[in-house]
Amino acid sequence: MKKIQISPSILSADFSQLGNEIKRLEQGGADMIHVDVMDGHYVPNLTIGPPVIKALRQNTKLPFDVHLMISPVHKYIKDYADAGANIITIHPEATNNLKDSIDLIKKLNKKVGISLNPESKIDLIKSFLDKIDLILIMSVNPGFGGQKFMPEVLDKIKELKKIKDKKKLEFDIEIDGGINFDNSKLAIEAGANILVSGTTIFKKNDGNIKKNIDLLKSS
Ligand code: DX5
Ligand code: ZN
Repeated sequence: MKKIQISPSILSADFSQLGNEIKRLEQGGADMIHVDVMDGHYVPNLTIGPPVIKALRQNTKLPFDVHLMISPVHKYIKDYADAGANIITIHPEATNNLKDSIDLIKKLNKKVGISLNPESKIDLIKSFLDKIDLILIMSVNPGFGGQKFMPEVLDKIKELKKIKDKKKLEFDIEIDGGINFDNSKLAIEAGANILVSGTTIFKKNDGNIKKNIDLLKSS
């Protein structure tokens, strides 16, 4: 059983203090930093891009778990690799050739993630499961933090876990969206080993990041 890792989403951080917020997450025991990149085209929201990620890179040694909610994505992958991403996660609908985009991320020596929206089926990525490092299961529709968890995606995680165990594959299963102290255990029991959380980590228990990360880890 893989160790449960926590990847706090900085979408819920104080954007005027991102460098300090990342340091707070590291001191609070985060395993990696979930960076939600949004382009106002693939999703109806706009956040940060390569220059900000490059600036934040010097604030921590923690891996940057970069979630690209952008389309088209292929031509921008190298910019995020150069900016300091460690994991580059893309949405299959955002590239004309998923195999080429996976190969490019690997060629850049980055970990490859693929993200499935709540209505996206596992069939979209079944033939790539042996080539990728991480599957990011969205438990909200992408675009905003603070949304309500969609429990129906747990079945998708259970199915992925079955395939992973049957084929003895190594990919991580990450869940992203609406994760809190009530549903984190369900996500782990379903097979997720990385929890993304923004609102719960930054807002609960008067914003006590360490306490909130510890509570999620001990789900
Ligand atoms: C939504 C993002 C999620 C989200 C998680 O598009 O991918 O990472 O920010 O935030 P919470 O934990 O607040 O749902
Ligand atoms: Zn995300």
